[in-house]
Amino acid sequence: MMKTDLTGKKALITGSSQGIGLAVAKALNEAGATVYIHGAREEKAKRAAASIKGARLAVADLAGDDCAQRLYEQTGDVDILILNASIQCRAPWDQITEEDAQRQITVDFTASLKLIQAYAPYMLKQKWGRIITVGSVQQKKPHKDMLIYAAMKSAQENMARNLAKQFAPFGVTVNNVAPGVILTPRNDEALSDPAYAAKVMEGIPTGFAGDAADCAGAFLLLCSEAGRYMTGEDLYIDGGMKL
Ligand SMILES: NC(=O)c1ccc[n+]([C@@H]2O[C@H](COP(=O)([O-])OP(=O)(O)OC[C@H]3O[C@@H](n4cnc5c(N)ncnc54)[C@H](OP(=O)(O)O)[C@@H]3O)[C@@H](O)[C@H]2O)c1
Repeated sequence: MMKTDLTGKKALITGSSQGIGLAVAKALNEAGATVYIHGAREEKAKRAAASIKGARLAVADLAGDDCAQRLYEQTGDVDILILNASIQCRAPWDQITEEDAQRQITVDFTASLKLIQAYAPYMLKQKWGRIITVGSVQQKKPHKDMLIYAAMKSAQENMARNLAKQFAPFGVTVNNVAPGVILTPRNDEALSDPAYAAKVMEGIPTGFAGDAADCAGAFLLLCSEAGRYMTGEDLYIDGGMKL
């Protein structure tokens, strides 16, 4: 029998007020975990938390210097940390401003490092933990107008492998999950252009975009005992788009 029961585990999923993060939070909650719903915007995060029985709230802008400290004060130690929030700024390579570059480096990479520094010590001490970074198919197929975003996803995956090796002796796994095109509010605007949407779908071997719920199973596997022998993985949920 698959060991996917998460009863008694506490999980923080960053950026879970909508999209993939919310679907993952629902799946972990259904498996028995107590989940922390997180976002930068409190009202939105509150509404999302209200849609999940027993969910708790954690609010902090990951662009803030003190984001890890603020989150840790709200959640205390957790057994499962999912680094799902990110931002992406679109601009051709020669028009990327230093400000936009820095914002993406801060939210998409530095905040993940800070959160791991805040939450991993407890996991290492109790000899059980799950850390998942959320990457992107852009690690393999970078979009020409999202150079910094794609580079930070690759950097984050590299960090996950580095820490996976260091944390493995302590029962803490670290993996990266890389979605392809998933229908979330992030993509609403771009995919509302039928010509652009058709071009995007041409690049997906299955011929369709995924739903947020399509991502949930992989997270449940990696977070539970069923995934205890998987670490340092880079798992794509992309309908074959990376191929
Ligand atoms: N959707 C896709 O097609 C796709 C493809 C590849 C990879 N991914 C990755 O999958 C993850 C989830 O994507 P998604 O499409 O579900 O995202 P989304 O719909 O854009 O949602 C982003 C979430 O992150 C939070 N967030 C953003 N900036 C934040 C900040 N500075 N501080 C705190 N919270 C912040 C948002 O909350 P607030 O609104 O409160 O800021 C929201 O809950 C991301 O890492 C993304 O890069 C997505």
